[in-house]
Amino acid sequence: MENDWKRLKVTGLYKQFSRGPVVLSNIDLTVDRGAFMCILGPSGSGKSTLVDLIAGFEPPTDGRIAFDDSPIHGPGPDRVVIFQDIGNALFPWLTVLENAEFGLKNFVRNKNERRAQAMEALELVGLGNDTHKFPSELSGGMKQRAQIARGLVMDPHVLIMDEPFAALDAITRRRMQYELKDLWERTHKTVIFVTHDITEALILATDVTVLSSGPEARILDTFRPELPDERDPADAEFIAAYRHIESLIGHVHDAGDVRAETAQ
Ligand SMILES: Nc1ncnc2c1ncn2[C@@H]1O[C@H](COP(=O)(O)OP(=O)(O)O)[C@@H](O)[C@H]1O
Ligand SMILES: [Mg+2]
Repeated sequence: MENDWKRLKVTGLYKQFSRGPVVLSNIDLTVDRGAFMCILGPSGSGKSTLVDLIAGFEPPTDGRIAFDDSPIHGPGPDRVVIFQDIGNALFPWLTVLENAEFGLKNFVRNKNERRAQAMEALELVGLGNDTHKFPSELSGGMKQRAQIARGLVMDPHVLIMDEPFAALDAITRRRMQYELKDLWERTHKTVIFVTHDITEALILATDVTVLSSGPEARILDTFRPELPDERDPADAEFIAAYRHIESLIGHVHDAGDVRAETAQ
């Protein structure tokens, strides 16, 4: 894979699972190198399906995904996925450092070199002093930082994050959002970040893509929110951007939330 790629391009993407309905319909999406692209949409709209296709876990029914003019076929170390699942993402029998080193085994022959790269990634996420710990000794936020370090160490073109903070408590979640933003500012890694939380998207994104509810989800809007580097949910521009997204999907999503809450 070329290392001087400029953009990830999704063109005319369709996805239909066997005998199921069409999940994604005619998706066009461009992610510039260095962007922080947030994909928003109601629950069940097809956000995970879209990033699974980009990750290469699932083949598209039609359409194309490419880095510039090089189409991707299947998964590769150039696209790393961080999942919501904090319980099972790390190997419980390996330390934080060993977990971070693990993915490098097939790519970096020298053990000291692997260790140095893993240490660097762990320091980037603030786990430099916790390298000897086992996953069971980590808080939820630390587990997610360890997972992010394990992804960063691969130096992928794109870090794909599918609702990575959804399982965390509200305070940890907000802290992780600002930590991730800080990490992105330091590394300028290209990120595709899935969320159904509008505030989370607007704290993080350089680019926002809004999916319609499914089936046959399509892109309702894709735009660059004009917000200052320091994002404050109380700012007028932030609220205006929030309302814009809410007017596209908000009430659909809120209705789902209310149902989920009353069902408990
Ligand atoms: N492997 C699969 N087989 C069949 N249907 C699937 C599969 N994965 C997802 N779907 C369907 O695709 C739709 C979108 O799901 P998903 O991408 O998980 O949505 P989101 O991540 O936005 O909540 C849902 O209706 C879901 O049931
Ligand atoms: Mg999902």
